[in-house]
Amino acid sequence: MHKDFEEDAVDAAARVLDRNWTGRHTVPATGLYPHQWSWDSAFVAIGTRHQEPVRARAELLALLDAQWADGRVPQIVYDVSRDDDYAPGAAFWGAATSGLVQPPVHAWAAWLVHCADPAGSAREGFLARVYPRLARWHGYLHGPRAGGVGLPVAKHPWETGTDNSPLWDTALERVPPQARTPVRRPDLRHAGSGERPGSRDYRRYYRLAETYHDAGCADDVPVGFAMVCPLFSTLLAVSEIALARMAEALPDGGGDARAGAHEAAAARVIAAMDEHLWDDDLGLYVALDDTTGQTVPRATVNGLVPLLLAGVSTRTGASTTTGATADRRAGTAAGGRAGLAPGRSERLLATLAAPGFLGGGPYLPSTSRDDPAFDPALYWRGPAWFNTSWVLLRAVQALGQDEPTARLREHFAVAAPGKFPEYVDPDTGAGRGTRQFSWTAALTLDVLLSDESTVLPGPGC
Ligand code: SER
Repeated sequence: MHKDFEEDAVDAAARVLDRNWTGRHTVPATGLYPHQWSWDSAFVAIGTRHQEPVRARAELLALLDAQWADGRVPQIVYDVSRDDDYAPGAAFWGAATSGLVQPPVHAWAAWLVHCADPAGSAREGFLARVYPRLARWHGYLHGPRAGGVGLPVAKHPWETGTDNSPLWDTALERVPPQARTPVRRPDLRHAGSGERPGSRDYRRYYRLAETYHDAGCADDVPVGFAMVCPLFSTLLAVSEIALARMAEALPDGGGDARAGAHEAAAARVIAAMDEHLWDDDLGLYVALDDTTGQTVPRATVNGLVPLLLAGVSTRTGASTTTGATADRRAGTAAGGRAGLAPGRSERLLATLAAPGFLGGGPYLPSTSRDDPAFDPALYWRGPAWFNTSWVLLRAVQALGQDEPTARLREHFAVAAPGKFPEYVDPDTGAGRGTRQFSWTAALTLDVLLSDESTVLPGPGC
């Protein structure tokens, strides 16, 4: 990317984030998403850490202030003054937050935020404040949310962050498309109906949310949807390794023993993914329906995201207690890779380069171009999203893969000219969804301001 262009893009991205900052948190977009969203805030903090590290820390702390007693970090923290602008809102949940969750990217974000300004972080006692809360968040996911194979389950498509991915179609078909609550669609004032989930999907989304709410958001009551996602599980594993770094960095973090426990938790997640989510025909990871025990053989960007785990370094390498991973890439006591089973990262790189993904057009689609559900405009069924391109970019950079690194960086060149769209057509780069979208701006900043070749900086940053 050209230098002047990059400087303009940095300024424009920072302006979007300034405008969307409320003084306490950043809204994902002023119209479509007027509250605080969980994984959005984590991606926003990853971007704002470079120029506004105080704000990046405040962003994560504001979200964690809304943590529930059981450890869950809510999907949405409502700004009750805007309760009519988004549905379902605080009145639906009868609470200041949604009872659902979103993918656990927070500890990874918190470690990146800390490492951008270790002195400021130390002055505010940032790590000491976030570490115990993040550890409780993960405890919730490993505990009440653990499914049959030990991986966390999403109880609603909204929890996956990839709402209408074809990965959820079969499970969602079983949910009656009838809800007690009238379905309101204020979202359609801000994005085209051909770019948002349909009304039948929405009735099912409401039905599931009602069922969960009626059960008091208790996790021992089945709601009729329980899905294990490779993207969600990968982010949990990376975030566990981030907690290990925090435990080592904190004077009273518990040092080696606690760090070792976090790395062991990450290794268990990775081993379970390798054992249960790999699809050898598609050459990527897939979802698992925890209700039926069946995998969902659909090729989506979610299934490429585990490539991150090939690029993340740990102190001990692939340490796990299960025999299934005995033949993993060897780690050493001096450090190693978290690792995927042998041959998997090469297969993932090949799938990433194949016509279904980067080989078939300029930008990385959310659903493979080869999947029957592929639609270049419709939410998670084809458009290229900046957060998944960013995650894959960090993965291939860490692996020293120059060709996909250059390709994925190109996605960020269309962000500023397109007014920071929520997602883009994977063939033309034309903007879709809403504009002035915070994580698009934040991750563009991150790509332009840092050229990190590690997924997670080491204990000393
Ligand atoms: N993605 C959901 C929506 O579109 C909320 O998390 O409203």
